[in-house]
Amino acid sequence: MSASHGLTTILAVAVAATLFVSYSYKQITLYLSRRKFANENGCKPLRNYYPLKDPVFGIDNIIANVKAAKKSRLLARSYGNFNKYGDTFGSKLFAQKIILTREPQNVKTILSLRFKDFGIGSRETALGPLLGQGIFTMDGAFWQHSRAMIRPNFARDQVADLEAFERHIQDLWKLIPRDGSTVDLQELFFRFTIDSATEFLFGESTDTLKETKSGGLDGARFATAFNDAQDACAMNTRLGPLRHFNSNPKGKEAMKFCHEFVGQFVDKAIQFREQLDLEKQDETEEKYVFLHQLAKDTMDKKRLQDELLNVLLAGRDTTASLLSNMWFMLAKQPEIFAKLRQEVEETLNGELPTYDVLRSMKYLKFCMNESLRLHPVVPGNSRMAMHDSVLPLGGGPDGQSPVFVSKGTLVVYSPYSMHRRQDFFGDDSEEFKPERWENLRPGWEYLPFNGGPRICLGQQYALTEAGYVTVRLCQEFKELQSRDDEPWMEKLTLTLCSKNGTLVGLTPVSG
Ligand code: HEM
Repeated sequence: MSASHGLTTILAVAVAATLFVSYSYKQITLYLSRRKFANENGCKPLRNYYPLKDPVFGIDNIIANVKAAKKSRLLARSYGNFNKYGDTFGSKLFAQKIILTREPQNVKTILSLRFKDFGIGSRETALGPLLGQGIFTMDGAFWQHSRAMIRPNFARDQVADLEAFERHIQDLWKLIPRDGSTVDLQELFFRFTIDSATEFLFGESTDTLKETKSGGLDGARFATAFNDAQDACAMNTRLGPLRHFNSNPKGKEAMKFCHEFVGQFVDKAIQFREQLDLEKQDETEEKYVFLHQLAKDTMDKKRLQDELLNVLLAGRDTTASLLSNMWFMLAKQPEIFAKLRQEVEETLNGELPTYDVLRSMKYLKFCMNESLRLHPVVPGNSRMAMHDSVLPLGGGPDGQSPVFVSKGTLVVYSPYSMHRRQDFFGDDSEEFKPERWENLRPGWEYLPFNGGPRICLGQQYALTEAGYVTVRLCQEFKELQSRDDEPWMEKLTLTLCSKNGTLVGLTPVSG
């Protein structure tokens, strides 16, 4: 061995030894500081873990989930797991540590009390190809800025444009058979909400409910492309890191079309603002257009396009799913539909509802609350620990002690399973019973719209829209029959709606 070769070997060993010592030192100090933090917060080990047969990757759990998804029983499986393993338990997916919870105190902690410790994780990677960077996909200062920019658009006056809803209702009437033959309301609700959301956000409706559409806009094609693009995003979310192996040309094509379609409106909005700036006028448009307001804050084309798509995604399927799920259950229980119709008749006596009247209708509110409880349209969600943190419950032999959450752990929370807890909602928690809301005043155990700084911005808009459509259907049709022998089954994409749609027959009041 030459002297220089010997020296190189000694150097390599010295470097490796130094790296090893420094790595070990870091690990030991990290371990000690975490132990101190956990002790200071009274943390105990998690009471329970999902019993993985494959403790390294958790493949058996993935397979069980895929099987459950095929049978449309993913949510039922997750609910069953909580019933078996407790309200908070640990698991693992590949190298990812996971804590699953349906404990309101834990949910409040990640979404509000320790908001800064938790982020939305890989949402940007999964949804970014369609949504880019916007309120729904970003964390931190970027998100804060988005939220500040978007929030003023949800003030009362803007969410109460009932005339716009009424125009789309008139289109809807033409598509509902008047001879009692079967119609899928779910399909129509999805068209209704994209028509109304695009009118509110872009200033022009996709008008997918119109039987014939004049003009050059390809609204129906956009609606289809947006669905396909969302499906591709939902698949990305489910695949996690494996998404890189899934080339999806149909999804990519759909996203390209969505960007071009929305891009036209963004260009118009920018021209509109430039013109106003030239004329040094303040805008006094007759109709409120979300995009034109955003263009006051930024003229960055990509930014405007991304934020529009973010809000469209957050607001469109959610409201349609609420309507579909609720009308599925109303059709199954005629006595509830009759009671709701009675409230509508007594309150309105045939008049069109106003914003204040909608808000005053108690039974309508109970029905919407109950639908969002039993079938929350965002049934599961998660947050990633960005720092070491702590959850108040789930540790120790009784599960009542705090639990240490190391940086990088994914905390998955389940409104679906939380909303069915019998200790909060009674022994009949799996039944659709609007009357229970007479006495319920829930806190964090009822969370359809999320809570804390990222609470849904569109809550009032959604409840106004769903309330308006429901009241108008009650005024127009006196009988509602379910045309589906099966019970409600889950269809879980980015939101939760009914697998077999909402198949009903309707009898009109007149004609
Ligand atoms: C029944 C209807 C709706 C439900 C159940 C619902 C539910 C939710 C939930 C659970 C979140 C939190 C997501 C998270 O942080 O992980 C959220 C966020 C959001 N929602 Fe809604 N939503 C509905 C309708 C709407 C509508 C109609 C709009 C707008 C037109 C809207 C706009 C938003 C926005 C912008 C966010 C993001 C807020 C942020 O991250 O700061 N939502 N919604």
